[in-house]
Amino acid sequence: KRSLVLSAPGKVILHGEHAVVHGKVALATALDLRTFLRMTPRQDGKISLQLPNLGSQLSWEAAELRPLLAAFSVELPEAQPPSAEQVEKLKEFAGGDYGHEAVQSVAAAAFLYLYLSVASKYGVLPTVDILVWSELPTGAGLGSSAAYSVCLAGALLFGCGAISYPLQEGQETARWTKEELDVINRLAFRGEQVIHGNPSGVDNAVSTWGGALRYISGQISVLKSVPTLRILLTNTKVPRSTKILVAGVKAKLLEFPTIMEPMLATIDAISRECEGILEAMTKDPSQEHYSRLEDLVDINQHLLNGIGVGHALLDRVCQVTSSHGLHSKLTGAGGGGCAITLLRPGRATWLQRRERARLFPGLLPRPATHTQGEF
Ligand code: PMV
Repeated sequence: KRSLVLSAPGKVILHGEHAVVHGKVALATALDLRTFLRMTPRQDGKISLQLPNLGSQLSWEAAELRPLLAAFSVELPEAQPPSAEQVEKLKEFAGGDYGHEAVQSVAAAAFLYLYLSVASKYGVLPTVDILVWSELPTGAGLGSSAAYSVCLAGALLFGCGAISYPLQEGQETARWTKEELDVINRLAFRGEQVIHGNPSGVDNAVSTWGGALRYISGQISVLKSVPTLRILLTNTKVPRSTKILVAGVKAKLLEFPTIMEPMLATIDAISRECEGILEAMTKDPSQEHYSRLEDLVDINQHLLNGIGVGHALLDRVCQVTSSHGLHSKLTGAGGGGCAITLLRPGRATWLQRRERARLFPGLLPRPATHTQGEF
């Protein structure tokens, strides 16, 4: 039998991070950095998971996993989210010498959860080698865990015969149908829940569907008429945990509801206002719209600092870019990770690698082609 190879993109959130966890609008777009998965059937009754980015290599006997099946039946979409107890059990079961909260342990638990869910629902325990490799930096706000979950969901659903692989003769790549992508997205959300605890679902939605999306409370709308925006992505390389940052915002919301709720509502209003501007830009490409977009970026960055997800290095990116007349905000969970800077047309020279290296010594090793997102 042949290998299956598939890929899913990372994402950039333009506006709405954190607020989206509390039922507000987020605007996000897929990035041209992807995660790739190769699944190869094996005959020796084993299942292996190789994650070269994390230096992790694990394998299990199918016979070892069989007794766990009963506990992981997933009836999509009504299923209960994975319980903290299940996740703990899976981390323990995953084995490896990585430490309890290590990213390798969490990634293995997400894999096992998805594997067992699909296997119990479809009654098949596929014995496969799975290799996942990513162009996305981990924990940088670019949705690496969602792209991982989407790749796993697609491969495992295919491995259990739940979805087809509609590759036509002569075609090099194929896309699943809308219905199949919907099933993949729902399962990937479960993987995100294992990894992040309480994700909004925006990351797996963008990674599944691609393109530019508006997302609110599980409702996904593809933004059909959006202008091309040039966005500079700066990775502060400050590591942080989405799970901890999301939990921190929730704790503040519980402690200061009358203060936090209006801030989240303002972020919602920013996303909605931005949507209107983007639509207007497709009809009228005048530069006037940019100053409004830039104002929204600045206001949101201040709000994100206000809700406690800023970082001194993100502020530094904002200061430096501001001294060049540019406007930046954090993207994703914040607390480090990446910032986005809106670039007006005609400012391409600012992207020059040497110039960036001078402005952010030690922060920007990525090639220029990988630093531009399109919105
Ligand atoms: O930093 P990332 O890529 O994990 O993005 C998280 C986005 C949040 O809004 C902070 C969380 C979520 O689940 O929507």
